[in-house]
Amino acid sequence: ASVLLKDYTPPDFLVDRVTLVFDIRPEETRVTSTLTLFKNPDKSNKSSVLKMDMGDFEIQSVTLDGQNLSSNAFQADGKQFIVPDMPDRFTLETRTLLCPEKNTRLEGLYRSRGIYCTQCEAEGFRNITPFPDRPDVMARYTCTIIADKTACPVLLSNGNPVKAGDLPDNRHFVTWEDPFKKPCYLFALVAGNLSWIESPFVTRSGKHITLKIFAEPENIDKCHHAMACLKQAVKWDEERFNLEYDLDLYQIVAINDFNAGAMENKGLNIFNAKYVLADPATATDDDFMNIQRVIGHEYFHNWTGNRVTLKNWFQLSLKEGLTVFRDQEFTSDLNSRSVERISNVKTLRALQFPEDSGPMAHPVRPDAYIKMDNFYTMTVYEKGAELIRMIHQFLGETLFQQGMALYFKQFDGMAVTVEDFLSVMAQAGHMDMTQFKRWYTQSGTPTVTVTRSYDPDTRILSVTFAQHTPFDRNQSEKQPLHIPIRMGLIDPEGKDIIPEQKSLIQMRDDTHTVAFQNVPSGTLPSVFRQFSAPVKISTDLSDEELAFLMARDTDDFNRWDAAQTLFNKEIQTLVSAIARHRPLTVSQNLVQAFETALSDQSADRAFLAKALAIPQEMELANLFDCIDVDAIHAARQHLKTHLAATLTPLFLNTIDQCGHSDPESLSIQDIGNRGLRNLAISYMASLGTASVHDIVWKAFLAAENMTDEFACFKILCTTTPELKRKSAARFYDKWSHDPLVMDKWFYVQAVSPLADTLPCVKDLVTHPDFTLTNPNRVRALIYGFAMNNPVHFHEKTGNGYEFITDKILELDTINHQIAARLTGCFNHWKKYDSHRRVLMKQSLEILAASPNLSTNVYEIVSRALA
Ligand code: ARG
Ligand code: ZN
Repeated sequence: ASVLLKDYTPPDFLVDRVTLVFDIRPEETRVTSTLTLFKNPDKSNKSSVLKMDMGDFEIQSVTLDGQNLSSNAFQADGKQFIVPDMPDRFTLETRTLLCPEKNTRLEGLYRSRGIYCTQCEAEGFRNITPFPDRPDVMARYTCTIIADKTACPVLLSNGNPVKAGDLPDNRHFVTWEDPFKKPCYLFALVAGNLSWIESPFVTRSGKHITLKIFAEPENIDKCHHAMACLKQAVKWDEERFNLEYDLDLYQIVAINDFNAGAMENKGLNIFNAKYVLADPATATDDDFMNIQRVIGHEYFHNWTGNRVTLKNWFQLSLKEGLTVFRDQEFTSDLNSRSVERISNVKTLRALQFPEDSGPMAHPVRPDAYIKMDNFYTMTVYEKGAELIRMIHQFLGETLFQQGMALYFKQFDGMAVTVEDFLSVMAQAGHMDMTQFKRWYTQSGTPTVTVTRSYDPDTRILSVTFAQHTPFDRNQSEKQPLHIPIRMGLIDPEGKDIIPEQKSLIQMRDDTHTVAFQNVPSGTLPSVFRQFSAPVKISTDLSDEELAFLMARDTDDFNRWDAAQTLFNKEIQTLVSAIARHRPLTVSQNLVQAFETALSDQSADRAFLAKALAIPQEMELANLFDCIDVDAIHAARQHLKTHLAATLTPLFLNTIDQCGHSDPESLSIQDIGNRGLRNLAISYMASLGTASVHDIVWKAFLAAENMTDEFACFKILCTTTPELKRKSAARFYDKWSHDPLVMDKWFYVQAVSPLADTLPCVKDLVTHPDFTLTNPNRVRALIYGFAMNNPVHFHEKTGNGYEFITDKILELDTINHQIAARLTGCFNHWKKYDSHRRVLMKQSLEILAASPNLSTNVYEIVSRALA
């Protein structure tokens, strides 16, 4: 049963106050919820039947305005809770019995390594108590938690603590009050034995607030980076968006078992421990950066998501796309803007573009879903952020911020829609957004084809853009989109010859031509600078021209992108040579461009580490209509080895020159040094000689931080079975006590290209440290294998598919959300050769035919087979 956007109706009943009491005991948590409800005054045909959502739990008693309701006065079937014939306004008290210890789905109230916690977005609150579980029902919450003092010394909820005290039998309680109205998906509770660090912060208006981060006692020393990031985030939101924190207390709790990255519950964020805990010995540079990004993201939700929330779940991108845009701007302002942009575009191309052309394709604002949890997607988040970025380009920072100010002025405290956001932006920018809105309602990635013509007599350069979006299941015909094209012209001396003010082109039609006067011959267009729109770009630039742009474009992003295009073209040539059993050659042009870039002493090393990395196999797969995983792997290896062999002295020199950085420093320079050095080591290792293996092994032993140790471990696991075994054993001995590092241990072995990988992964599933109940562990080993090891997942035998199918079925009895995510690895079955297509389809059919499939997995499977 699909939920449809067009079926939306306002709620019949609204909730004024929610009073919750949690009495937590092992194996038995009693929840008393007291709701004051009233008929929605804005609804004309008011119903008197109260229908609330409920999960699968026992209801112990119900009272209406103090009167006990007998069990035949209401209906409760584990999905809905219905009481007929209600007055206009009333108080309803329900008592329910929960068992968080048995909740392996990690939705609602559950227990993770001894700590009680909640996850309510999207529809988890209904698993705690009967409630109108929809974001347009906003209420004020009071929450009392009662628990054993020894097992749960710390008791947390949203807002401020207002009362606390001791109770008989070594028990105690704390009452929390949240002064802000909120939808129930933002409710949170935590109870357990936690340590914390805290830090005062004075906001811009002079308000004193306290920031606290909680973790298990043994991990509390790893919270300092997260605290520093939180302070950066609070300050940045004041400065860039003029937004201040609104409560006295901001709390973050790190939890080991968590389905998503983190959750922005009002005043009490709950985080996957992976995005909180870090020190140089156990976390890589990427981990540190991710923590900054996610801490920022959840903090920024306090305004974009919490103060202004969603009218219904179809509007998810209204908070997620906007908040991703904000976290991207945060990390760009604090680190290197172009390196951030490159990373984000890489993710978009590798993961969102394929999603947008496969069975899960949906508009940024979907119009139908079966399970909302399946729509926390790359499209809603990452493409959604690109749409905000395009608006930002049309308006510029000043007008965009005026639009944001209007947004909060008009909609603070309300549950709103994408239209509401577009209306304030249209107003601020004096811009008609009707056509732009199609980006929200139309799925698919447009391709923009760019062609040039130059007339040497008139010195006029014409550049023509043509857009095309292929039809799909969502719309049989696609309308042209309003596309911002940021462009420059690079003359033969490498000078940018169009002024900044003229650099933004607005494309509205199927084709669009711009003519530039007085252009020297040999001038090259540099289009979609900073990736100004989420489109596939197809240009007529030759390899020589791309090499020139790679070396000389004044736009960093496009220098990187020119390098990517050169790599992609080379891989395509190699793959077709492999298919035709032709000898493999590498173009001299690419080698030279590579050599020039790597020998440039003045270049930013973090940038080089990105620009000189051959795209991952997953990204390369998108270049082909029919994906040949083995040929792509072989082509990539060939190219890598060729570069390593041809440029050996340069790589060795790079390894040496980049080796002298402070192992604990997180400066942009040091991160860049490590990135480039580890890239050079990985190129060298592809030569496969004993002497380079020795270099990697020594670097592994000498590593003084996790960035280097992990990089070398990963490389060693691609060399020989012997070195893989030796490095895995050493890594295990050193880190078996640390779950987040053990995730890396599982992951690296799961993505190894060595021949015995599938049997090895099957073995690892039975390893005492493996469990299907921890999402991070499943993502590391199982998902890592299925998504990041194409050669072995797609083994011709079908053994990889069979293994993953079994795991999906097993996982689906434990955790629906994680099982559904894993099922996505079959989404692109139609893009493989006929042999694999048949096998993958069989897997999907086995899943479809399996009894007791969750609706989460069912939705993914049925879309894939449709
Ligand atoms: N709102 C959270 C965030 O992006 C993610 C919640 C994920 N929930 C889910 N059901 N997948 O910060
Ligand atoms: Zn979010």
